[in-house]
Amino acid sequence: MKQVLGFDVYGTLIDTHGVITLLETMIGESAPRFSMAWREKQLEYTFRRGLMGRYRNFGICTRDALEHTARSLGHSLTETQKEELITAYGTLPAFPDAVAGLEAVKATGQAMHAFSNGQLHAVDRVLVNAGIRDYFGDTVSVDTVGTFKPSPQTYRHFMDSTGCGPGNAWLVSSNGFDVIGAAAMGMNTIWIRRDDRLVLDPWEFRPTAVLDSLERIVEVIGV
Ligand code: 2OP
Repeated sequence: MKQVLGFDVYGTLIDTHGVITLLETMIGESAPRFSMAWREKQLEYTFRRGLMGRYRNFGICTRDALEHTARSLGHSLTETQKEELITAYGTLPAFPDAVAGLEAVKATGQAMHAFSNGQLHAVDRVLVNAGIRDYFGDTVSVDTVGTFKPSPQTYRHFMDSTGCGPGNAWLVSSNGFDVIGAAAMGMNTIWIRRDDRLVLDPWEFRPTAVLDSLERIVEVIGV
């Protein structure tokens, strides 16, 4: 049976901390801390909006999180600087292991899709700019169902729209909450753990495999 792989985008294929160099020109050595806080707040907003049933798209969550991060860390960014940072979000780089990993999976002939909290146009743009869009068939966005990962609706939407089921559906993600969300829906999951200090939540859902690089996915999908 053909396997259908959904690749999470931000944090898995695309390095959200690629904004650090630009941030450094604005706030100096606080840039890494700012970037981390921005990403955490962005995800927190998706979780909270999901729970509240008050969906607003990922771009808005990203903007709101930038605003909150700047204020809470005491950085008075100008409107122009904020726009530059939002624009930079569309040109974030792929992780160094992405091309080799995607190339290897592509050679197996399995179906590959980008699957993200981001809106279709934003995801496609960042993948094009990072030079990896062509590895994927249709992009699947949670925007279609109006809620965020790890809502069960989002994984159901992935399976429905790509024509697969729990037996042959795979989620590849570096985001632990995403892996657990997909595993809870019966999907096969690969947790990409590039940093060995990261710990998965000690819940009842476990990934099918844990790999330190996208380059090793082919070892797991077994073709
Ligand atoms: C994504 O869905 C979770 O941000 C991550 O692309």
